[in-house]
Amino acid sequence: MRVAFVQMYCDFGQVERNVLHALELLQSKDADLYVLPELFNTGYLFKDRDESASFAEPIPDGPTCKALTNFAKQKQCYISAGLPELSGENVYNSSFLSGPDGFISVYRKIHLFNKEKICFDQGDIPFSVQDIGEIKVGMMICFDWIFPESMRSLALQGADLICHSANLVMPYCQNAMVTRCLENSVYAVTANRIGSDVRGELSVDFTGTSQITGPRGEILVRSSDSREDVQVVEIDPEKARNKQLNPLNNLFTDRHPDMYTL
Ligand code: ACM
Repeated sequence: MRVAFVQMYCDFGQVERNVLHALELLQSKDADLYVLPELFNTGYLFKDRDESASFAEPIPDGPTCKALTNFAKQKQCYISAGLPELSGENVYNSSFLSGPDGFISVYRKIHLFNKEKICFDQGDIPFSVQDIGEIKVGMMICFDWIFPESMRSLALQGADLICHSANLVMPYCQNAMVTRCLENSVYAVTANRIGSDVRGELSVDFTGTSQITGPRGEILVRSSDSREDVQVVEIDPEKARNKQLNPLNNLFTDRHPDMYTL
């Protein structure tokens, strides 16, 4: 199974341009599963909830999800990508997974970062895992990484690989993913964006350095902090399924939930 991140620049508010550009980047390298950044179609720095709502689209019936799902059908591949989702009155910072047979599932960001709390509703669907045949995948979005429960929950449900769409602004995540993957024995594809969003007085810079991390904490590939990039890695799901660290230690069966006070 060949998995890829798409590291790209996103032009704030230029949805059609960003989607077309993402499709070009998807076409540039062959893979079985591609992960794109968080909010890849709109950019990140919304001024308020009215603005995020004005850009939000239904999943799976909005134009962005449809365009990428059509690509997945044509290329017989899987795609996970982030966008603002409109569902009834609610606006979520979401990602979706589509494959050769069409749309599969949506994830709504549970741990909102900073002013996202003003622009989005908190995700209302528990972390879940999708069996796509060769592997089981789970989704999380950006800041979810800092809460170990996010990946633990996905790993305990059997995820072999985490699709991690991101718009990272702090310098910690890429190194932290080494521990997140090691403690759960899973692969993760962290797809970050590059560049800045500048909105009048406000601006935010994104850190790039998208990364694919292996189940023993190996950095299988890491990108630059400033260039668009698509990198592909061949993964072996059996390596993620082996939770045995040595003959006497198993990452899952050695847990002692009865001794943890949460
Ligand atoms: C983030 O969660 N986009 C920092």
